Amino acid sequence: MTVEAFAPAKINLTLHVTGQRADGYHLLDSLVVFADCGDRLTLASADDLTLRVTGPRAEGVPTDGRNLVLKAAALFGPGRGAAIALDKHLPAAAGIGGGSSDAAAALRGLAQLWGLALPDARAVLSLGADVPVCLAPRPLRMRGVGEDITEGPRLPAMGLVLVNPGVEVPTPAVFKALDRKDNPAMPHPPGWASAATMAHWLGTQRNDLEAPAMALAPVIGTVIGAIAATQGCLLARMSGSGATCFGIYESRTEAEAAATALSVANPGWWVAAAEPFTLKPARA
Ligand code: C5P
Repeated sequence: MTVEAFAPAKINLTLHVTGQRADGYHLLDSLVVFADCGDRLTLASADDLTLRVTGPRAEGVPTDGRNLVLKAAALFGPGRGAAIALDKHLPAAAGIGGGSSDAAAALRGLAQLWGLALPDARAVLSLGADVPVCLAPRPLRMRGVGEDITEGPRLPAMGLVLVNPGVEVPTPAVFKALDRKDNPAMPHPPGWASAATMAHWLGTQRNDLEAPAMALAPVIGTVIGAIAATQGCLLARMSGSGATCFGIYESRTEAEAAATALSVANPGWWVAAAEPFTLKPARA
């Protein structure tokens, strides 16, 4: 038996850091959406657990026990086998949940392959704070340290551009560089009739990790400025702890034109045009 699983890019439209626990982990309040660009996994029945990584962003991705896909498989079905192939398109350690989305997609694929129910959010938190939100990709609100997942608003039609300038900013260092840990929480996202009204609302909200990430990697400010200057851009912001930033547009066509302009002007940057992605629930 062989199954396929898509690991979409995760975008934090907002990311409010509202506190810090005694163990050092931060309390978050984030509106998370997924994009229809991402990594692709193929999982086949096998006696042993193996991982092969291919694709344009495969370089440097571990294929041993350090890879979150293998950690997820070992946590979910200790001693069980599967031959997993990961076709890597997203940059790693980039604030768009690459490793977490891969791990969550692996869990979806393995649940099918092994005939098991998908684990719940709290059971997979130990793999990483972004794994729970990636389990069932759709617009979601993420709170706690990443384990408290509730439905997000319905999204209007829109185009998205993702841009990574090729610098890695380690997440722990970004949290450490954050001045205030007790920022205001996010008000309830109201739902919007258009990308413009959504972008206007998002503009009144924040990614609290943007300033500390920018202090560590000033190029992030350049990226946000470059996205904001593209034709039709309604909002430009950083995702997660960076360094990937996103732009919101009225349509995919506008996002594609902006992505082309950004790629031409900055040949070293990773640039992708996308639309929001929602995983269709598996049929029983
Ligand atoms: O869980 P994950 O491996 O993604 O977290 C990486 C690092 O980010 C943690 O070691 C921690 O320093 C920081 N972090 C945090 N609060 C969170 C999530 C992550 O401080 N809610």
